[in-house]
Amino acid sequence: MNEQQLHKRLEELRRQIEYHNYQYHVLDQPIVSDYEYDQFMLELRQIEENHPEWITPDSPSQRAGAPVAEKFEKVQHPAPILSLGNAFDADGVRAWLERIAKVDERALDADFVIEPKLDGLSVVLHYQDGIFVQGATRGDGEVGEVITDNLRTIKALPLRIPMTNDRRPTTDSAPSSVLCSPSTLIVRGEAFIRLPDFEELNAELAAAGKKTYVNPRNTAAGALRNLDPAVTASRPLTLLIYQIVDWQDSLTPGPSPSGSGESGLRTKPSNQSETIAYLRALGFPVPESTHCRTIEETIAIHGEWQEKRAALDYEIDGMVIKINNHQLFNDLGVVGKDPRGAVAFKFPAQEVTTQLLDIGVNVGRTGVLTPYAILEPVEVGGVVVKQATLHNFDFIFEKDIRIGDRVRIKRAGDVIPYVIGPIEAARQGKEQPYTPPETCPDCNQPVKRIEGEVAWYCVNAACPAQLIRNVEHFVSRGAMDIVGMGIKIVEQLVTEGLIGDVADLYTLEQEALLALEGFAEKKADNLLEAIATSKGQPLSRLLTALGIRGVGEVVAADLAAHYGSLDTLSQSTPEGLQTIAGIGPNIAQALVDWFERPANHTVLEKLRAANVWPVEQLSAVSSLQSDLPLAGLTFVVTGTLTGFTRANIKAFIQTHGGKVTGSVSKKTNYLIAGENAGSKLTKAQELGVPILSEIDLRQLAGES
Ligand code: IVH
Repeated sequence: MNEQQLHKRLEELRRQIEYHNYQYHVLDQPIVSDYEYDQFMLELRQIEENHPEWITPDSPSQRAGAPVAEKFEKVQHPAPILSLGNAFDADGVRAWLERIAKVDERALDADFVIEPKLDGLSVVLHYQDGIFVQGATRGDGEVGEVITDNLRTIKALPLRIPMTNDRRPTTDSAPSSVLCSPSTLIVRGEAFIRLPDFEELNAELAAAGKKTYVNPRNTAAGALRNLDPAVTASRPLTLLIYQIVDWQDSLTPGPSPSGSGESGLRTKPSNQSETIAYLRALGFPVPESTHCRTIEETIAIHGEWQEKRAALDYEIDGMVIKINNHQLFNDLGVVGKDPRGAVAFKFPAQEVTTQLLDIGVNVGRTGVLTPYAILEPVEVGGVVVKQATLHNFDFIFEKDIRIGDRVRIKRAGDVIPYVIGPIEAARQGKEQPYTPPETCPDCNQPVKRIEGEVAWYCVNAACPAQLIRNVEHFVSRGAMDIVGMGIKIVEQLVTEGLIGDVADLYTLEQEALLALEGFAEKKADNLLEAIATSKGQPLSRLLTALGIRGVGEVVAADLAAHYGSLDTLSQSTPEGLQTIAGIGPNIAQALVDWFERPANHTVLEKLRAANVWPVEQLSAVSSLQSDLPLAGLTFVVTGTLTGFTRANIKAFIQTHGGKVTGSVSKKTNYLIAGENAGSKLTKAQELGVPILSEIDLRQLAGES
């Protein structure tokens, strides 16, 4: 490829990647596998590495990896970023309408739009000629903080607009879309974390012995205002955009009062329902919004959302009712910071109080002990709650939670209910301070605290509770996905001693299963078949399944794409691992430690023997890549090795770009010689081929 073609390829890759981001993060309809996506990203990064002068801020490679900021700059918003007045019931909403109709009687005939009120952080995004150039927090509504690099890490945020279905990359490079972004577009939306993502994040933190977060909103706030964009990137933020703050176009004299009419492809929308449609067409993720003719209709829609609130995968604390027509909305003006033309119709809080009967302790798959509250059953949002999480032992002491206390409980959407804190005023003197256990509640072995971590651990590798959690994780949907293997079966297998580690699943036999309660032939066969099917899972899933600290689905996919097999991964060093974006010193160390533990060796060897050993084809790009450390070099290996097996060393050299041949010739660049090397060593010495030890090889490959 000449330079011009390479640049074209770069542009094509950027469009492809952003299109797949859009499919995945905005439409929730991915059309390529994570693996394929990773390959595009890899190729893009490699071109940009060779041509740093081609890197632009709107390249998808620039979403993460911006340097740590010293402080956030301030920016004056182009128009005040307003707040909202509240209404707490239907009469409150009717009263709002009456109030504003006194200011402008057109309000009586107005139509409305009603949208969920997302419980996140308001953000303001600036696009110049269709490119995301700046993002800010709301701040005090007049001046916000510039958090562009942090916002860029949010994959649902389009770096270029329009990004619509019409822009689907084709071989024909002419965009088929007719919709264009105005020269300046400034939009506002809400950044937040979805509940399942929040729970996954907390589960990973808990497994790593770290403090878990109390709620998605604070987590999102902390992530957005972190000075290190790498931290923001590691938090599963998303966003929804619902407002145009500024719209300027050099092609038209100004916003047309008639709204998007026939020539409307570069015209500012004139009401809220068109705004949402327009933002969606540009490629922004938008909230579900409903157009209503009357205020009573909006009240009915609010009722419907209240019903479905608990089933949503994000938190909302009410609905926003907006006067649809922008002209009227603006004419109605503002009281303080609240526009008259909109109102937040809040939901009743999903918070209750009940008595804390006792504190129980769970043992997680990494041995982390987590306390939970055993409660006097209480109804919250239509569900009876008997247990709630207490996060960690420090939380209990910080909040001074005592057994017998009346406590405040919150249940939000699908998240596990959690204890907010005690009601100290309700104490009667009988409440008992809590003492954490000194031994594991399951295996009775002493518990330990690891320095620098908040968690207490059961360090007994043979603890059955840990094994149960481990196997549960191993077979779960995001991991090996062994269909039909629920928690009950896992418990049976462990307590009956049929399995001592996850690899034992692959040597289970029908006869043994039939001895278990509830098993007949059909059930046993189905289970064995599901286990056998899981052998075909890709490496990324096996890596997730192994439950290594810090290695969730995303990290596992990165590792699989980079190393291709457990053989090469198990040989990696902390330094080598950290060359992968998203892997820091902690995860790198956790991986190395995991592979060093003898018990894990045994599991791996058993998995290999059972043929559970996926090997990924590394992309042609990566192995042909000229800037891999061993690219263009040919190696011969001889003698007894200490740190590698033969298969390992070959894979190691290949992953780093080198070639391995069987015999020494003038073309051999290096001979790797172990103990007791024979004729190949002599030949290399004769030909003057440099001789390296295994350690030298690692150094050459940049892995030491
Ligand atoms: S409209 C003039 N729409 O709620 C427009 N706000 O309590 C005023 N919020 O500061 C805001 N979802 O951060 C609007 N669909 C939505 C919203 C929304 C969440 C937030 C916003 C605002 C706060 C007011």
